[in-house]
Amino acid sequence: MPSDKYRQRKRILVTGGAGFLGSHLCEHLLGQGNEVLCADNFFTGNRENIGHLLENRKFELIRNDVTFPLYVEVDEIYNLACPASPIHYQSDPVQTTKTNVHGAINMLGLAKRVKAKILQASTSEVYGDAQVHPQPEHYWGNVNPVGLRSCYDEGKRCAETLFFDYYRQHKLRIKVARIFNTYGPRMHPRDGRVVSNFIIQALNDEPITIYGAGTQSRAFCFVDDLVEGLVQFMQATPDDFVGPMNIGNPREITILELARLIIRMVGSKSELIFKPLPSDDPIHRRPDIALAQEHIHWQPRTELEQGLEQTIDYFRRGAW
Ligand SMILES: NC(=O)c1ccc[n+]([C@@H]2O[C@H](COP(=O)([O-])OP(=O)(O)OC[C@H]3O[C@@H](n4cnc5c(N)ncnc54)[C@H](O)[C@@H]3O)[C@@H](O)[C@H]2O)c1
Repeated sequence: MPSDKYRQRKRILVTGGAGFLGSHLCEHLLGQGNEVLCADNFFTGNRENIGHLLENRKFELIRNDVTFPLYVEVDEIYNLACPASPIHYQSDPVQTTKTNVHGAINMLGLAKRVKAKILQASTSEVYGDAQVHPQPEHYWGNVNPVGLRSCYDEGKRCAETLFFDYYRQHKLRIKVARIFNTYGPRMHPRDGRVVSNFIIQALNDEPITIYGAGTQSRAFCFVDDLVEGLVQFMQATPDDFVGPMNIGNPREITILELARLIIRMVGSKSELIFKPLPSDDPIHRRPDIALAQEHIHWQPRTELEQGLEQTIDYFRRGAW
């Protein structure tokens, strides 16, 4: 008879595990005593992000593109594979749609075959240029289906559809998490995401680029809080609670305020410069997290200033 300890230990697949969020998730799951298989094609992720895990005997790294099938025996799957920043996902939009749609089909097929529970890393981008603020899960969104961001937004929406059809049609155990803007150490330094952009520009005393007037707002969640939310959703909710569920930090801040805060925290001489807003850039974005509070008793714990301190420190150390 296997011991209780043996039965509780799970084999968990994390696709996109060498990326920003994936690497923190792998670390967290290993910390719980699980065996972790990290699958990645290293498009935006890299070995340095998971270098410190390679010596761990419960960690395994597989080079795999999620658009191709993967045959492994696992108990749970976290499907994170997909470039998350516009620079990267727009560089090959057809591949982005494939990653989202074929990737979801492949991972759902695997989950069905091995009877694994599967979580999809969806996104607040499914709300598009939201007409409702803050965004609750029952809001269907306002997404341009033919714009430059559509490969990502519509790809993620289609992945959600697939998850729910596998749930209804094949009785798969699914969880769909809609992740809002997340930041922290191991963000890609040059992928145009606002927090890393501002920090690097501030550290180099370069001008900080603000798109539009900077009055557009965002709400930023620190990576540790986000990972905790994802894992609680996967592990601590009944099978009939499938989401979609928002995970993010509801504290809203304008882009201009964020730039000034980072300049102050870094002690930088950077000036602000203003450029035109890119197309389909949402004006406001803030999660309604009532569902997460009710079902997983989760809410972010890290103050923006605390999280920024750790992120600034990561970039200052040149740890990337
Ligand atoms: N970071 C955020 O603020 C945020 C917000 C909403 C949703 N998400 C979602 O969370 C997930 C992780 O985002 P992230 O911020 O860590 O981004 P990231 O770009 O750092 O990580 C994505 C990882 O997926 C890998 N990848 C990309 N295409 C792949 C493919 N075809 N096959 C296998 N691996 C592939 C990349 O190499 C990378 O390691 C993504 O699905 C993203 O859409 C992130």
